Amino acid sequence: MASQAKGAPQKSGIIGWPVSHSRSPLLHTYWMQKHNIQASYERCPVNPADDFRAALEAMAQDGFVGANVTIPHKETAFAAMDSRTEAAQKLGAVNTIVMREGRLLGANTDGEGFIASLEAGAADPDWRQKPALVLGAGGAARAILAALEQAGVGDIRLVNRTRARAEALAPSFGQALSVGDWQAREDLAKDCGLLVNTTSLGMQGAPALDMGLQNLADGAVVTDIVYTPLETDLLARARASGFVAIDGLGMLMHQAAASFEMWFGVRPQVDAVLRALLVEDLA
Ligand code: ATR
Repeated sequence: MASQAKGAPQKSGIIGWPVSHSRSPLLHTYWMQKHNIQASYERCPVNPADDFRAALEAMAQDGFVGANVTIPHKETAFAAMDSRTEAAQKLGAVNTIVMREGRLLGANTDGEGFIASLEAGAADPDWRQKPALVLGAGGAARAILAALEQAGVGDIRLVNRTRARAEALAPSFGQALSVGDWQAREDLAKDCGLLVNTTSLGMQGAPALDMGLQNLADGAVVTDIVYTPLETDLLARARASGFVAIDGLGMLMHQAAASFEMWFGVRPQVDAVLRALLVEDLA
């Protein structure tokens, strides 16, 4: 694969289909300005019917140093890479591509972003020592399970409405992971220091998550990966019951920060100004 001449303006962007609703341009352009990096972050629609590798090669030719990847291309991107990070290999999915010296490196920063979001939002890291309950068995759940396993959580409980999908994830994980029934979610929350909702329940237009929180451990962290709305019914109830509630913007911002660092060599800060910009944009 050819790459562009040195000294040309750097480009980055997000590849998806569609990409019009992505908040990633806001995040990355904020950090570029803050760190005085002369680069752009563009929306790059790539039709699933097109040759994905050829699209990436054209981007590299055009001065791209990297890109994020979103729905529906994360698995296609994985297959199109020359090399992959360990996290990407574990997930079989790529959310960050680094285009360097004519080669494509695929990474996945979703899990890292999730843990960083918990660390930023929960002053007391007690959740690491307690069981965790994860709801849902899609791509986001897989990244979160891998991150929790890597963070050393010894008892990870997974439930999904369609139990077979949760069972299908289990072989990729070690003994820490156990699969339970969706109907048993309240019982399985017993003594958990962390509850993660990766299902679409609670999203705008979807019903709320029907689940009592009374069995969670004192001081437990409750997090929703959804950020439309920002304050889901689950998070509002968690806050009202004295738990630590962390919304989906944390994971969004921290996975982006990790991508930015891979392209530009600077780890940008996730700060209150950035969060406020996102909140305003969502409104
Ligand atoms: P992702 O975007 O993380 O890849 P997805 O494949 O869109 O996730 O799946 C959304 C999740 O929400 C799934 O776990 C789904 O459960 P199923 O596997 O049974 O479909 C879950 N989900 C969606 N609607 C739900 C509902 N009404 N009750 C319970 N779970 C629901």
